[in-house]
Amino acid sequence: MRIVTDLDRYRGSIENCFRNVKLIILVCSGKGGVGKTFVSCGLAWYLSEEGVQTGLLDLDLHGFSTHRFLGIRVPVRGYKEENGPLQIKRNLLYFSPSIFVGDSPVPIRGLYREKAVLDILSSISWNSDIVIVDMPPGTGEEIIIPCRYLRNRASSIVVTLMEPVSMKVTERLVELLRELNVDILGMVYNMTMVENIKLFKLDTGIMNIEKLTEIPYVPCVLKSLVAEKSPYAECRELREYFRPVIEKIVEKLERCKYRSV
Ligand SMILES: Nc1ncnc2c1ncn2[C@@H]1O[C@H](COP(=O)(O)OP(=O)(O)O)[C@@H](O)[C@H]1O
Ligand SMILES: [Mg+2]
Repeated sequence: MRIVTDLDRYRGSIENCFRNVKLIILVCSGKGGVGKTFVSCGLAWYLSEEGVQTGLLDLDLHGFSTHRFLGIRVPVRGYKEENGPLQIKRNLLYFSPSIFVGDSPVPIRGLYREKAVLDILSSISWNSDIVIVDMPPGTGEEIIIPCRYLRNRASSIVVTLMEPVSMKVTERLVELLRELNVDILGMVYNMTMVENIKLFKLDTGIMNIEKLTEIPYVPCVLKSLVAEKSPYAECRELREYFRPVIEKIVEKLERCKYRSV
């Protein structure tokens, strides 16, 4: 007789919640502040505008901030978890703890933090072809858990700054992703400046990982956040920087559609 553990139960419910999803993109970084949330939200926004049925899941339980980049007011009154993710735009579904708690802190630590991640993964059902996950920073349990449970259908995108402090922690993250057998779609170099590019002379393939795009520091992002508006709606130049990544994801998604899951 096989003993069914709590973890098996989670696995079954998580698979059920993601059963219609063809591809999950885990947006990761070794450290905070490099633009993971900016990139996750941008990917979700532009994919949805390409007509892809897209979901965006904020799993950064202590630093959730996707609502700011999407220009959404939180908490969302009258929201009930059993309704599933919120439709915030054509082709774009969304879930974040901020829907409940607004900008208040979520006072969970240690094991409760792991349980909260598992609870979110196993209770929110996605009816979209793709789910973009804004992951917490670092290499701790909160990133190991989603990687373990979602890796059959997930690819990761690593966001880094083009400078040694961020690159060094990125190396550790890449090592962890490889150990966990999580596919790495490529790297996004964010907030690049001419100086970075000159000093690093990066061509593709650092750590044997493809460079998906370089996004410079775009002052309009700050302006729109201050005005509580979404930078993707306000800053026209952003779309072009995201374009190569969007193309790569759409290509990958096409291949996943014909794969049995
Ligand atoms: N390319 C960019 N141009 C301008 N500002 C940016 C850019 N990328 C990120 N930012 C800003 O940098 C800060 C950190 O980005 P964020 O996405 O919150 O990082 P992380 O999720 O990795 O902690 C935010 O204020 C964001 O608006
Ligand atoms: Mg973030």
